[in-house]
Formats: sequence, structure tokens, C-alpha cells
Amino acid sequence: MTRLAIAHKAVNLSQGFPDFPAPAEIKRAAQDAIAADINQYAITWGSKNFRDAIAEKFLATTGILIDPEREITVCCGSTESIMATMMAVINPGDEVVLFEPFYENYGPDAILSGATPRFVKLHAPDWSFDPEELAAAFGPKTKAIILNTPNNPTGKVFELAELETIRDLCVKWNAFAITDEIYEHMLYDGAKHISIVTLEGMRERTITINALSKTYSVTGWRVGWAVAPPDVSVAIRKCHDFLTVGAAAPLQEAGAVALKFPAEYYEKLATDYAARRERLLGILTNVGFKCFKPRGAYYIMTDISAFGFQDDVAFAKYLVTDIGVAAVPGSSFYRNPADGRTHLRFTFCKTEKTFQAAAERLAKLTTIGSSAR
Ligand SMILES: Cc1ncc(COP(=O)(O)O)c(C=O)c1O
Repeated sequence: MTRLAIAHKAVNLSQGFPDFPAPAEIKRAAQDAIAADINQYAITWGSKNFRDAIAEKFLATTGILIDPEREITVCCGSTESIMATMMAVINPGDEVVLFEPFYENYGPDAILSGATPRFVKLHAPDWSFDPEELAAAFGPKTKAIILNTPNNPTGKVFELAELETIRDLCVKWNAFAITDEIYEHMLYDGAKHISIVTLEGMRERTITINALSKTYSVTGWRVGWAVAPPDVSVAIRKCHDFLTVGAAAPLQEAGAVALKFPAEYYEKLATDYAARRERLLGILTNVGFKCFKPRGAYYIMTDISAFGFQDDVAFAKYLVTDIGVAAVPGSSFYRNPADGRTHLRFTFCKTEKTFQAAAERLAKLTTIGSSAR
């Protein structure tokens, strides 16, 4: 959709990357690191400064003391962290439980690592799951569940009771929880982020994935990490070594600076995103989208039934070419495209200028009957 948006000069509300500057301090720290000639390979599993800073932040956010020498692997973004983790823990024939709609990469990650995905639905409007459906997806072949909270694309923030249900199944079936917490600081309406690793019985079976990308508005830097028990980390480090050798050395040094930002940085991040969420909710609701209000992350899932298109992809293409706004078709978040046919996802990690342009273009949109399409 980003490529289509560029081709049609559309306002891009599809891919989740900020169109505003990264914090000056993190940019300066990267420039300083390059000037100081930190330009050669870092230690494969991450520079010491960066791993120490990750351990410090992990302690602050979860209350858990981890060993930066044995429990952290720095990778090229959370994308590689998840892939290296899955390659490390999965054997061909293993099953992996996935909630759907899901962040697009998880399906291919399962295929590349040789896992058979077992899908469990999150049901609108609150994106809750049926505990019985989840229990039925687990079995003797289950190696892991992939969790993403706060969630892309739904904006769901998993509650303690839901995480306890997941925990009980992981313990019962001796499965890992691979948890992608890249949006941990983007929370609204008093929502609280709970890391499943903090639940009793989960410390030794959780791999927590995170990255600089979203929290510090540097999606192009490609720096992320996996926190895992020592024996699992040994395997993740091997996979990571053969996949990419290491993440960008100077950017890890800048990451070490960023991870020490004071609490106010994260408070302001959440407040700013809450305002952007309101802005985009207003724009979309005004022109006829039914919005599922997100409690976390920076996306709005919408229902497009009012526009009369049979197909989310056709509607997304129409929006880009005729209206000039890009969004992601809902079907890309489902195994069976038909399940996402009435959905479109917009992102609000954008500036007021972008919102203004989107509002002007979307004003041309009409909610006319399906027979016209
Ligand atoms: C849930 C989720 N995980 C991972 C990523 C990719 O993260 P990274 O840039 O760290 O590879 C994204 C990007 O949109 C995402 O939404």
C-alpha cells in the first residue's frame, strides 16, 4: 500500500511508520557513535552498553532482573527477533497458536520456521477470544503461542484474566509464549500493559520481543531484541548469527541512550498518541467509517460496510486511486481473506498536516449503496 500511495501521491495512512522526526537526543547519540568510530561489528548478540540498558529497562517495566550476558539477543528489529526465536524453538511439525486478525508477519514466520499455525479468532468489537476455542487450539504438538499486546491491527490490550487463561494453557501443554510488546508505551483510556512474563509460571517459558522502532520513532533503524531464558537465548543467538550476524553497531549505542529516557518521555508519547487517535477517529467517523476504538498501539480498525463495496481490497484501491488516501485491507490480517472483507486499517502515527490532507480528501467519500459498486 505504501508503494501504491507513492505512485498515486496519496496520503499514506497504511504502513505504521511515523512521519514526524525522531527525538533529537537519539539522533545525536547515533551521530556521536558514528563519529567515535563505533562502526564495526558489535558483539553478535548485542553491544554490552545496549544489553545493559535493555536489562535496566526490563527491570523497570516488569520488575524482573534479567542477565544481560545470557538472556538478551539484539537483532535487526523485532521482525528478525521473532524470526530468530521461531527458528530457535520450532521443529518441523510443531504447532503455533496465533490470534487473528494478526500482524501480517506472524503467518509467514510460522511457515518459514516449519510450524503449522493454529488460528484463534479475536472477536469485534472488543476483540475478545473464546477461551474454549483457545483451549481447543492447544495440544501435544503446540510449541508456542504468539501474542501481541498492545495489538496490531485491533488496538486490543490483553487483560490480566485473558493472560492468565493463556498462561494456564502454556503451562498445561509445556508451550512457549512469544510475546511481541513493541507498542507497550502506546496505551489509552487508562489501559494497562501487562507482560505475560510477569505471571507465575511464565518466566522460564516466555520470550519477550521489543524494539526501538515504535517507542523512539526510528522504524528504519532496524534494532530490536529478544529476552529469553539462557538455554533458549543460546539457540536464538545461533539463529541470529547465521541470519544477520548483528544489528547496526552505532544505532545500538544510540539505543542505550534512548532506553534511559526519563518517565516523562513515555508519558508524553502516550499523550501525543492519544490526541492523534482522537483526531483520526473524528476524521474517519465523520465520513462514515465505523471505528473500533483502540486501547493501545497506533492503528484504527474500521468497518467499511457503509460504503457498499463487496471487497476490502477493491475499496482500498479505490481509496488510493480515486480519493487519495492509503489504508491496509482487512483481509491481509486473516488466514481466510473473506474474514477481513469488511475491514480496513488506518494508522495514526502521523502529523497534523497529514491528518488535514487526509480529512480533505476523505470528504469526497460517500456512503452509497452496494448496488452502485
Ligand atoms: C506488532 C508488530 N510487530 C513488529 C513490527 C515490526 O517491528 P520492527 O520494526 O522492530 O521490525 C510491527 C511493525 O509494524 C508490528 O506492528
